[in-house]
Amino acid sequence: MNNYSAVEPPDISIFKHVLGEDGMLLKQEEMLGYASDATEDFVFMPEIVLIPSDESQLATVLKHCNQRHIPVTVRGAGTGLSGGALPVMGGVILSMEKFNRILEIDTNNLQATVEPGVINEFLQQTVQELGLFYPPDPASKGSCFLGGNVALSSGGPRALKYGTTRDYILNLKVVLPDGEIFWTGANTLKYSTGYNLTHLMIGSEGTLAVITQIRVKLIPYPMFRQVMLVPFKKIRQACEAVSLLFRKGLNPSALEFMEKDAIDLTCAYIGVEGFSPDAEAEAQLLIEFDGNNLEHILQELEKTYDLLTAFETGEILLAQDESDKNRLWKLRRSVAEAVRASSVYKEEDTVVPRAQLPELIEGVKEIGRKYGFRSVCYGHAGDGNLHINILKGSLSDDFWEHEIHDAIAEIFILCKNLGGTISGEHGIGYVQKRYMHLVQSPAQLELMKAIKKVFDPNEILNPGKIFC
Ligand code: MLT
Ligand code: ZN
Repeated sequence: MNNYSAVEPPDISIFKHVLGEDGMLLKQEEMLGYASDATEDFVFMPEIVLIPSDESQLATVLKHCNQRHIPVTVRGAGTGLSGGALPVMGGVILSMEKFNRILEIDTNNLQATVEPGVINEFLQQTVQELGLFYPPDPASKGSCFLGGNVALSSGGPRALKYGTTRDYILNLKVVLPDGEIFWTGANTLKYSTGYNLTHLMIGSEGTLAVITQIRVKLIPYPMFRQVMLVPFKKIRQACEAVSLLFRKGLNPSALEFMEKDAIDLTCAYIGVEGFSPDAEAEAQLLIEFDGNNLEHILQELEKTYDLLTAFETGEILLAQDESDKNRLWKLRRSVAEAVRASSVYKEEDTVVPRAQLPELIEGVKEIGRKYGFRSVCYGHAGDGNLHINILKGSLSDDFWEHEIHDAIAEIFILCKNLGGTISGEHGIGYVQKRYMHLVQSPAQLELMKAIKKVFDPNEILNPGKIFC
């Protein structure tokens, strides 16, 4: 058990000296906004919020915290869904909000260097003006920081064709707890030069080092896209259709699943103008094809229509123009918020090989019947990545505190048995660590903990996350 130190007046004097008055927050009301993220309804107050403006300030305060054994939780925009930014041990919140610049766009090499506090969509829009594309697009792209995306290897709908954040990170500049600063690799598309520290850092959830610069890969922006929404009478058939499309050679840029409750709750929450969902459909698939050859995209659409005749579908909606396409995407991207607004909830980020999706959804509903909970499912079906929102509704507090964990464990064991795991893109953080042993052996967990110790011997970085 680690003994951490509290933040004392001499520490505060040092922080003030390094960061100045406007580089720190101490008042409870000012810190409240840093006490929670987008995970359930958790609130953990930090002892102080530090907001460095540059790398040298950051390294100095980090080194001080390391010497004093003060916990440090690095925070991006606070949009995370596994509690990764919660300061569960108190201590310091290290906010990256001032690291918000795009430092370079290298149009010769199709790369960019950005700071971790840049908002995902800001980078997307900036490079799009140059005809370039940064594909990772989490639902929270309008507010989430790229640093947080790296910490979790975030995905999003377009991960299906283009890959997750991991596939777009070439190199990272990091600060270790002892103040050492280095780049983890090289700005190259290939890298066989010893252990790949860049990839070790991606998905490490702020537990190994603090990222201060990110070198990303860009690709040319695809010129055309077509979007369709397909209602299925049966939820199982919607899931079966997913793997069929790939088996028959199609390559959609997104293939998203929404069960009826997800669509109904979202329509009621945001109101999607000119759209009334098929009341008979147990689930719908949002399918997108993109690329630079319109004729090829239209052929893919035609083939999709043909393949879908094997299923009981309702009237397929093909978006006619950009505003139609945006409306359908707005519906999908608002599901999480709408479902969360409907009840106290717990969200699971299950992922299985895509052909196992029908077994997963049926298994989840079966477990729901056994334990008496209602779940609303949606997500990145093409990736086999199903978000399961378990709603508290009128369930007792006692059930919600205790039995629910057995139910979630059953869902995760099902995922494991289907060849999957417990998180595809939201991470482990604070809320899923109790289930890690279901998918990682004791030997694997010990290895991971040993790696953490090498980077962070005093275990000050994001304590209380990933491991129990
Ligand atoms: C999504 O796919 O909508 C995002 O992962 C957000 C979420 O599931 O809460
Ligand atoms: Zn998602």
